[in-house]
Amino acid sequence: MASLAALPFFLFFSLLFISVNAISASNYTQALDHFGHDKSTFQQQYLISDTDWGGAGNRTPILVFLGGESPISSYVSQIGLINEAAPRLQALVVYIEHRYYGASIPYGSIDAALGSPKVRSFLTTKQALADFASIITSLKTNLSAINSPVIVIGASYSGVLAAWFRIKYPHIAIGAVASSAPILFREGFPPESDFCSIMSRDFQSANTKCSDIIRQSWNVIDQIASCTGGLEFLTELFHLCSPLLSSRELKKFLAHIYSFAAQYNGRHNHWISFVCNSIVGASNSNTGLDGIAMAVVAIGGGNRSCVPLKFNRIISPFPQRNVDAVSAWDWQLCSEIVIQKSCAKNNSLLIPNEAIDDHSEQIENCRKAYGPLARAGSLPTYYGRQDIIKSASNIIFSNGLMDPYSSLGILDDLSDTIRAINTEQGSHCLDTNSVQEDDPKWLVRQRKKEIEILKKWIKSGGPKIAFAEKAVCVIYVFTILFVRHLV
Ligand SMILES: *[C@@H]1O[C@H](CO)[C@@H](O)[C@H](O)[C@H]1NC(C)=O
Ligand SMILES: *[C@@H]1O[C@H](CO)[C@@H](O)[C@H](O)[C@H]1NC(C)=O
Ligand SMILES: *[C@@H]1O[C@H](CO)[C@@H](O)[C@H](O)[C@H]1NC(C)=O
Ligand SMILES: *[C@@H]1O[C@H](CO)[C@@H](O)[C@H](O)[C@H]1NC(C)=O
Repeated sequence: MASLAALPFFLFFSLLFISVNAISASNYTQALDHFGHDKSTFQQQYLISDTDWGGAGNRTPILVFLGGESPISSYVSQIGLINEAAPRLQALVVYIEHRYYGASIPYGSIDAALGSPKVRSFLTTKQALADFASIITSLKTNLSAINSPVIVIGASYSGVLAAWFRIKYPHIAIGAVASSAPILFREGFPPESDFCSIMSRDFQSANTKCSDIIRQSWNVIDQIASCTGGLEFLTELFHLCSPLLSSRELKKFLAHIYSFAAQYNGRHNHWISFVCNSIVGASNSNTGLDGIAMAVVAIGGGNRSCVPLKFNRIISPFPQRNVDAVSAWDWQLCSEIVIQKSCAKNNSLLIPNEAIDDHSEQIENCRKAYGPLARAGSLPTYYGRQDIIKSASNIIFSNGLMDPYSSLGILDDLSDTIRAINTEQGSHCLDTNSVQEDDPKWLVRQRKKEIEILKKWIKSGGPKIAFAEKAVCVIYVFTILFVRHLV
């Protein structure tokens, strides 16, 4: 499989970066509650690499990667855009872990933190942004680098945070890069979701026969499941580790696989082709279901003896979260972040709506685990929509148009400084994935273009601060002289 072939290179490059870059980890004593009276603190982890830094005196920039819903260790040294940009900009690189992930969990464990209603109520985007602001400000003071311009960078969820950070804390960051950020959260379900349309288009353009088979498979699954022994048959066909309880369970699982294949269809991992070749290649079937099963076993099973139905437990090939991260992220999805992925009732779409993750089901699981929830989905009210983003400045939104999540992204320039950089063939977060020697030209160009924009911001952002300072000094001195003169 492509992913396995790429693994040695991946390891080689990560080792190379780790051994070349001097990266040091530190803890920061962070306020658990930035806005209320609770005086509790927790240790928040951040990492610094100063290999390329031009130094505080030269006012060279600080690139801050904002951690998302994974331990920060999974991002360190892996962010292609940063690895390319840091030497060119002589930048200091800082990676900050998101609260409640990795080594930055209050109360010692995620179970303890989420188990307390009060403590879990502090896991919000607003508190996370305040954490980042607090660490960046403190760090700049400690490094005597008050005048070094800061650029925040994030990917996917943390890309959204990066854009919001620029909007809410413009005095701390002169700009932001938001890679594959699904920032256009909506309240209520849209009648027709582009999320599904993009997935359908990806599969359709890769292989028409394959997408036809998938489209017809949902009925086939239902028909088989309704027969006596049907669920047992499906359990066996798909090599599932535990007996199937309903056809919906299987359909949701398949929908996950297809949607991840579209999301991560990458430079080296052509997951859509992989799935489709397997589906179309299984010629001894008139329904195509055994081809689908073969793809699922290959992707979902890896080298295991059976396929676990719970998607998060799948080993390769899709990005992994650790168990802690799953529950903290689940809580965030229940309490604050509503990502719309619905597939409207439309027979021409790849996946029927019932197979797509239903947010109300997620809420129900959280309610079971944590009791009553506050109202979710108020993000557009707090952070604003396109209009607010438009009135901000210095944000790059980068998207790969094959990524279903690009349906919730900013895909057009909103102004001279709110820039959209899209790649037709790109998928999720490719510009912030690790740099590889055989990256396609369009990806190399995308990163280059982003770095050119960063240079512009730094050029106009850096000296301007110095100028403003000088101007304030001059005005101050003149005022004193003038007042003295009057006296
Ligand atoms: C930071 O704190 C965490 C937990 O509080 C601990 O596991 C880790 O070793 C600390 N890291 C450093 C660099 O002190
Ligand atoms: C900056 O220095 C102070 C005083 O030593 C320390 O408490 C704080 O944690 C430091 N800030 C960061 C981001 O490490
Ligand atoms: C159904 O989906 C297709 C493909 O995305 C789209 O072109 C078409 O307009 C949709 N039809 C309706 C009735 O929404
Ligand atoms: C199965 O795959 C995992 C993860 O890639 C690996 O650690 C393990 O050694 C493999 N087991 C066998 C028997 O190949």
